[in-house]
Amino acid sequence: MKIGVFGGGQLGRMMALAGYPFNLRFSFYDAAVDCPSAPLGQLFGDKHASPESLDAFIASADVFTYEFENIPVAWVEHIAAQKPVYPSVKSLAISQNRLNEKKLFSQLNIPAAAYHEIHCADDLAQAASLLGLPLVIKTTMGGYDGKGQFVLRHMNEVSQAWAELGKAVPLIAEAFVTFQRELSIIAVRSQTGETRCYPLAWNTHHQGILSHSIVPAPQVSAATQVQAEQYITQILHELNHVGVLTLELFDTQSGLYANETAPRVHNSGHWSIEGAVSSQFENHMRAVAGLPLGSTEAIRPSAMINIIGQHPDTSAILAIPETHLHLYGKSERVGRKLGHITITAETYEALQTRIAEVAACLPNKMAL
Ligand SMILES: Nc1ncnc2c1ncn2[C@@H]1O[C@H](COP(=O)(O)OP(=O)(O)OP(=O)(O)O)[C@@H](O)[C@H]1O
Ligand SMILES: [Mg+2]
Repeated sequence: MKIGVFGGGQLGRMMALAGYPFNLRFSFYDAAVDCPSAPLGQLFGDKHASPESLDAFIASADVFTYEFENIPVAWVEHIAAQKPVYPSVKSLAISQNRLNEKKLFSQLNIPAAAYHEIHCADDLAQAASLLGLPLVIKTTMGGYDGKGQFVLRHMNEVSQAWAELGKAVPLIAEAFVTFQRELSIIAVRSQTGETRCYPLAWNTHHQGILSHSIVPAPQVSAATQVQAEQYITQILHELNHVGVLTLELFDTQSGLYANETAPRVHNSGHWSIEGAVSSQFENHMRAVAGLPLGSTEAIRPSAMINIIGQHPDTSAILAIPETHLHLYGKSERVGRKLGHITITAETYEALQTRIAEVAACLPNKMAL
C-alpha cells in the first residue's frame, strides 16, 4: 500500500520510518526538494501548488494523510472525492482554525479559555472589558511555535497588537489562563472506531517553542489521566477522526483546560518511538492503513528533548546511555527544530540525571 502524505517535514519522515516495516511505501507533497521526508519516498509539489502537481500526487498513492494542518481544505476535499483521506476533512477544517476549535470544546463541554472574536481594533477593547487583561490575541489560522500571537497586558498596547496582527483578521482574543504546567494527550482512532490514548506528557516551552517533554507526566493523578482521555475521546468520536490526534492542555488549579488540538502526530509524542510499545507514528500508520492499533502503553519514564537551531556533537550524545538521537536532515537556523533526543530510564530520578548530561552537550541551552 502506498501512503500519500501532505507535507514533507520531520513528521512525515518519522511516519515513513514507522511504516516501512509494514511494507508501506510513501509519496509526499512538499515544494522543498530537500525536505526531511524526501529520502523516504516520491516527492511531488511545486511552489505554485499547480493543479497538475496535485493530480500527479493523487495518482501516486492509495490512501492519504497529512503531517501538517495548514493545507487548504479544498485540496483535501478534492482528494477525498477520489481516494480515502485520513483524518477526515472535518478534522482538518476544525483543527486548523482556532475559532472552530473553541466552538467544538464548548459544544462538548470541555473547559477552555473564554474567548472573543476580533474583527477590528475596537473589538479588542470590548474583549478586554469582557475577559479582562492580560489577553492572548492569536491569529485563527496558520500559527505555530507561538507565532501569530500577542499578549496584551495594558490597553496602551492595543495599537501595537493591531499593527502586528490586524492584517490577519478574524483574530481570537483569549482570556489568560493561569496554569501550573502544560500537558498534552495524544490518542489514536482506528477506521473501526477503536481508540487508544497515550499517557499525558508534561511539556516545557522555551521562547515559544517546545523545549522538552517528560512522559508519563509525573505527579498526575489517575483521575486527571482519565479526564484527559475522556476529553480527547469525545473529540475523536465527534470528528469521526481516523489516525492520531493531539490535545494540548493547561493544568490549572480548577482542573484541565483545553488549549488546542492538532489533527496529527505531535512533537510532544516523539518520546513514544522508544518509550511506548507502539509509537504515535506507527499507530498513525496502522490507523491510516486500516490495520489493528498497537499498544499505547509507556514502557518506562521517557524524556524528549528538542534540538533547536544548532546541532550537538553526535558522538557526545550517543555516548550517554539509554539515549537515542533523531536528526531530521535539516540545516541550522535560529529557532529551527533540527532533531530530538529521547532518553528512557528506570526511574524519574535517573531520567533527570541523564537529562542533565544531555543538556551539557547541547550548544543551544534551553530551559532544561
Ligand atoms: N489563553 C492562554 N493563556 C495563557 N497562556 C497561553 C494561552 N494561550 C496560549 N498560551 C501560551 O502560549 C503557548 C502557545 O500557544 P498555542 O499553543 O495556542 O500556539 P501555537 O503557536 O500553536 O503553539 P505550538 O505550535 O507550539 O503548539 C502555549 O503553549 C502557552 O504557553
Ligand atoms: Mg500549542
